[in-house]
Amino acid sequence: MIAKVAVLGSPISHSLSPKLHNYWLQKYNIEGKYYAMETKAENLYKTICNLEDRGFVGVNLTVPLKQEILNIIDDIDEFSRKISAVNIVIFKNGKRIGFNSDSYGFIENLKYGIKLYNCCEIENYLDKVVVLGAGGAARAVIAGLIKCGAGEIFIANRSLDRAINLVDDFDCDNLVVSPWEERDNLLENTGLLVNTTSLGMVGQPDLNIKLDKLPNNALVTDIVYNPLDTKLLITAKSRGNKVVDGLGMLLFQGQMAFEKFFGVIPDVNDDLRNLMI
Ligand code: ATR
Repeated sequence: MIAKVAVLGSPISHSLSPKLHNYWLQKYNIEGKYYAMETKAENLYKTICNLEDRGFVGVNLTVPLKQEILNIIDDIDEFSRKISAVNIVIFKNGKRIGFNSDSYGFIENLKYGIKLYNCCEIENYLDKVVVLGAGGAARAVIAGLIKCGAGEIFIANRSLDRAINLVDDFDCDNLVVSPWEERDNLLENTGLLVNTTSLGMVGQPDLNIKLDKLPNNALVTDIVYNPLDTKLLITAKSRGNKVVDGLGMLLFQGQMAFEKFFGVIPDVNDDLRNLMI
């Protein structure tokens, strides 16, 4: 039987996941099909039941369903529970098993980007990290950074209480909450600056931040990939910082998802990046 998977979310028409997974399916000669299905939160349970009945292997979840799905799954690993967001569900033996691959995607993308610069290891940038945002994406990013042994991680978010909740949930001494208004000043001695907010994305306002205090040897990364060169990355690059764009995070989270769905670890390389742009 043909292996079927869908990505669920709303809006979904812009999703690059079908192009990515269907490319890999063809490349690795796997008899499968990956669909995009517009799904609003109120229809999620019904849709999941329907896809299970139709013999789907599993689903990917995107905005706004990554937290909603937590109420519907039977099992989740400890790491994804901490992030409290699930972007992969596998249907297996009558159970729905949830995973988060955004964290993996973020870290692998950083490593890939650093390697392109032919320079030092990721650990060299992690003594002091500044994360902008405290939503679901920030949780995945922060979980990955902690796993990589990051030192102090400062979290600046427009809504302070959301950042405080995040820190409470993670219960990790390395996390420090900072007011959004302090974001320019936080950059002193920072090795890595990460934007996890939606600011800078097409249709959204730009991220407003002054990089004057950021060391020139710091690394700057944005999880926004549309556009690929956000204003943040352009400004950082112009003052000599190394930058890593957000496209690879999508590709690497897809890599882990593809392995769970289809049992093959697909290759992520520059050809794939060019195909997806
Ligand atoms: P995701 O799952 O992609 O993280 P999200 O949970 O909606 O999406 O989080 C979006 C992030 O962008 C949040 O940190 C949000 O800040 P708030 O928690 O204060 O809402 C941030 N964000 C969105 N619009 C913003 C804006 N105009 N100014 C500052 N931060 C903004």
